[in-house]
Amino acid sequence: MADIFDKVIELAKRRGIFWPSYEIYGGVGGLYDLGPVGVRIKNNIVNLWRRVFIGENSDFVVEIETPIITPYKVLEASGHLEHFTDPIVECSKCHRVYRADQLIEEVTKKSVEGLPPEELDKIIKENSIKCPSCGGELENVKLFNLLFKTTIGPYSENIGFMRPETAQGMFTAFKRVYTAWRERLPLGIAQIGRVARNEISPRQGLLRLREFTIMEIEFFIDPNSNQMPPMERVRDQKLNVWRAEYKAKGEHKIEQFSVEELVSEKIVINPWMAYWMATANKFVTMLGIPSDKIYFEEKLPHERAHYSSQTFDQIVTIYDERIEVSGHAYRSDYDLSRHSKFSGQDLTVFKKYESPKIVKKKTVIINNVNLNKENKEFVKKVMELVKQKSIDELQNMLKEGYKIDDKALSNYVSIVEREEKVFGEKIIPHVVEPSFGAERLVYVSVTNSYREKKDRIILSLPKEIAPFKVAVFPLLEREDMLKKAQEVYNMLKVSYRDDVIYDDVGSIGKRYARADEIGIPYSITIDSRTLSDNTVTIRDRDTWNQIRVPIEKLNDILDKLFRGESLNNLGEPVRESNE
Ligand code: GLY
Repeated sequence: MADIFDKVIELAKRRGIFWPSYEIYGGVGGLYDLGPVGVRIKNNIVNLWRRVFIGENSDFVVEIETPIITPYKVLEASGHLEHFTDPIVECSKCHRVYRADQLIEEVTKKSVEGLPPEELDKIIKENSIKCPSCGGELENVKLFNLLFKTTIGPYSENIGFMRPETAQGMFTAFKRVYTAWRERLPLGIAQIGRVARNEISPRQGLLRLREFTIMEIEFFIDPNSNQMPPMERVRDQKLNVWRAEYKAKGEHKIEQFSVEELVSEKIVINPWMAYWMATANKFVTMLGIPSDKIYFEEKLPHERAHYSSQTFDQIVTIYDERIEVSGHAYRSDYDLSRHSKFSGQDLTVFKKYESPKIVKKKTVIINNVNLNKENKEFVKKVMELVKQKSIDELQNMLKEGYKIDDKALSNYVSIVEREEKVFGEKIIPHVVEPSFGAERLVYVSVTNSYREKKDRIILSLPKEIAPFKVAVFPLLEREDMLKKAQEVYNMLKVSYRDDVIYDDVGSIGKRYARADEIGIPYSITIDSRTLSDNTVTIRDRDTWNQIRVPIEKLNDILDKLFRGESLNNLGEPVRESNE
């Protein structure tokens, strides 16, 4: 299926999954609408993420919501103003602008991600790369900042940006959440929200968007704690990993590790990296992606974001296309330290010792009786010295008989050592970050579940993320059948709420096809037999098999089907299909 990606896009437009935004004006690169079906699939993916990442870890993860508009100072502190850039190159003749690394990669077929402009210039020259559009000479490579700029309020000097990641909202609110939420580490702060990145030339549909939804956790830990993550929650996961040491040698060697091996073999900086990567593995397989199509690629130092000391990208391979669906970064204390410095606020937490430590503490004692006998000038000299010097420096000066205006400092200042009980220390937590793009997951899930059967299309989505769970169809447009179908629909609405859909438009064959194309797992049909014996048919999306069941057992049987029981064992088989 070489043209699978075109087929998915055609289906997506036709069935209301996604399409380019502002189409009537010709569209804008990197902006996509999600249609009525796409929104439901995305919401289901988001809710599944919420359940797996937050719900199943609610002992240490909480969710917050912070603004998209971000003040200048925040992104200056975070380093995005300086580092959130991509290299661009302009044609000297037609003035088209390209993303330099992508242009080079298209020609050389080698990754140049993260290389500085001078290196890219060199590669362009060595390979005689010209403007792909007019053949003109290319100018020197420059860095282009991807932040979308705006002003906050009517003052042009009050610059703000659309956030490029939700993470900064969690860092700036860290102290509030920490204080409100039991003052304990580890603490995960999760957020799901829109972000914007002014991509240079987005051409890959839902895969590279200028505005999209991020689902991420900033997971705050004490880097010196030996408290292990609850590995039993992910023990069954086997992770495929492409380590940096093989990547650096150009060897595409994928190894498989258990979550424990990732830690014991020191493949990850911190055990929590392994825990969140394993959770990500579990989550992506729940979207229907087989685990042998998932691997984690460790980034080389020059490929990592400015804040990261170790990064793994989670890659899904679909029809030979490698698609990055999540990033796992060890952000250390980079963000909290920078925000502490730029805001002047104390963002440390107090780490209590298991039992108090006795420490010797030096204190400076001023001999006021002697000092009060001196003139103002002299007093000032002594006090300034005390302020400027550290306690150890003062102690050395006293030992060496330091004098001010020929008078021994020891007449006025002394150092005493006392034992003190210390209950803990201030630390800046480190951060492990798993981060996902929601629209990419919609695209990956839809593409992965696209099937063709007898010239028809089936979207074989996992039931959990299917846009509707059940469809109800009256076989014919007859008043008694329509009435009965409405009764069944209303009954199912009690348990399936808005996850059940009613459709009486067109032939039954067309309605089944529509349901298959948007991935509805089960269709219930009300026919003439329903009117005499109160039974309906249930049709399975993937096999097209049907069974007949009594209406009073419908809820119970659907329940079993959603729990994974086989359709064929749950009712009378229907040999003559309505189709
Ligand atoms: N916070 C992760 C990212 O910006 O990709």
